[in-house]
Amino acid sequence: MPTDPKPSWRHGEITQPVVDDYLYSMLPPRDEVLAEMESEAGKRKIPIVGPVVGRVLHQLALMINAKTVFEMGSAIGYSTIWWARAVGKDGRVFYTDGDRKNADEARGYFERAGVSDRITVRVGDALEILSEQKQEFDIIFNDIDKDDYPRAFRVAIPRLRKGGLFVTDNVLWSGRVTQKNPTEPTTKGILEFNRLLYGAKDLFTTILPIRDGVAIAVKR
Ligand SMILES: C[S@@+](CC[C@H](N)C(=O)[O-])C[C@H]1O[C@@H](n2cnc3c(N)ncnc32)[C@H](O)[C@@H]1O
Repeated sequence: MPTDPKPSWRHGEITQPVVDDYLYSMLPPRDEVLAEMESEAGKRKIPIVGPVVGRVLHQLALMINAKTVFEMGSAIGYSTIWWARAVGKDGRVFYTDGDRKNADEARGYFERAGVSDRITVRVGDALEILSEQKQEFDIIFNDIDKDDYPRAFRVAIPRLRKGGLFVTDNVLWSGRVTQKNPTEPTTKGILEFNRLLYGAKDLFTTILPIRDGVAIAVKR
């Protein structure tokens, strides 16, 4: 378990603090590998999704019996492990990150978690790697730099199968999406992205206001 009771990855500006504490207090303990990753992420301020959102990702994959997941922005592979455990032995998860050091660290965790055989690790621009894929995916998870979210939308949707899920983290951006005239490229990127999601005729979208906001869009 994380040593810090409120590590930075928890965010906490969306839900009332007492409700947030309750949600985290209800969680079953994680295995040794995920617990160590949570602890490391807290110490080194690595922005992982954490266990509340990790469970949502895992559950979504179970709900649609997903076998192929493409993850954009994987860092040390914390969210990747939640996906990999959900897709099972015959599933495949693509890990992508622009930082080779992250990928090397992630590989170590995948080995220890017993899921390395179902994960393809790719280093580079997640959007370029996704555009090169010929197959359609059951789930595409978007967690890259926020100013690039509109570009992620355009690349990801054609690569998603009908009935597949496009899942995105941080879509409430610590509440900054409510600013009247935002100037930060990150906030502007997220606002445009959320408009694209809700405006797309071939998608049905919901934003879950947990942690920093998770958007779930199903392709019709
Ligand atoms: C928020 S972290 C990902 C956390 C991870 N999804 C988790 O919850 O464990 C974002 C990561 O995306 C990577 N990144 C940002 N933009 C990227 C891009 N265009 N292509 C590949 N990786 C990118 C960064 O290096 C960083 O490690």
